Amino acid sequence: MPKNYFDERVAEGYDSSSEDAFEPTFVDSVVNFLADLAGDGAALEFGIGTGRIALPLSQRGVRVHGIDLSSAMVARLRAKPGGDEIGVTIGDFATTRVDGTFRLVYLVYNTISNLTTQDEQVECFRNAAEHLAPDGRFVIELFVPVLQRLPPGETVRAFTVSPTRLGFDEYDVATQTLISHHYWVVEGQLEVLSVPFRYVWPSELDLMARLAGMTLLERWSDWNRRPFTGYSTAHVSVWEKTG
Ligand SMILES: C[S@@+](CC[C@H](N)C(=O)[O-])C[C@H]1O[C@@H](n2cnc3c(N)ncnc32)[C@H](O)[C@@H]1O
Repeated sequence: MPKNYFDERVAEGYDSSSEDAFEPTFVDSVVNFLADLAGDGAALEFGIGTGRIALPLSQRGVRVHGIDLSSAMVARLRAKPGGDEIGVTIGDFATTRVDGTFRLVYLVYNTISNLTTQDEQVECFRNAAEHLAPDGRFVIELFVPVLQRLPPGETVRAFTVSPTRLGFDEYDVATQTLISHHYWVVEGQLEVLSVPFRYVWPSELDLMARLAGMTLLERWSDWNRRPFTGYSTAHVSVWEKTG
């Protein structure tokens, strides 16, 4: 089982960790996109967390099930209105199988990169495909690696600098991994957290999809279907089960 980085301390602050990700208009755009794909079928969220997306999607009438490693994150989901109506299986979304088939499997907010090896990411695509009904869809939202911003010989890039919060990504281009180092101050005390990720290119994800019997259907730079270009910093990709 992969290490669980979303322990009690992280889960406690998760829902206030990003204003942008929880902003209602943004959440609506994600839910609209996913609800369209789910239609009258069921949806499975890999890494359901505290239900940021699963809860409003379920309130839209889509039956949602989730998989997550972290009991602490899922406890937050359970404590919210409607949270006890969503089925959750505690486990690794690269390998955990749940009953039933789904019209939609989705993995948002960069969470594929929490799997730190290529093998685990390939397994995750296989696991998504195994849960999908014929012509079902798999959706990923992920950042585009920012290697163009990393000068030759440099390995560290700051992603946030403020009087109370610092964050640095430390890259290893040989292994295609990065470690995000977070430092923040709570009541005068320094808190520290370092989390490893495997960054991955859209084209490599397409190959993983092919290995799992899926083909690319759509790729956008955001949930409002803005075109994906060489300047896009993120993508929302949709693969269809074909095999
Ligand atoms: C960045 S949070 C995203 C939560 C939620 N999807 C959202 O959009 O707010 C990542 C979630 O994925 C879970 N997670 C990370 N790696 C996992 C794995 N291999 N298997 C299952 N859950 C995992 C974490 O516990 C955490 O709840």
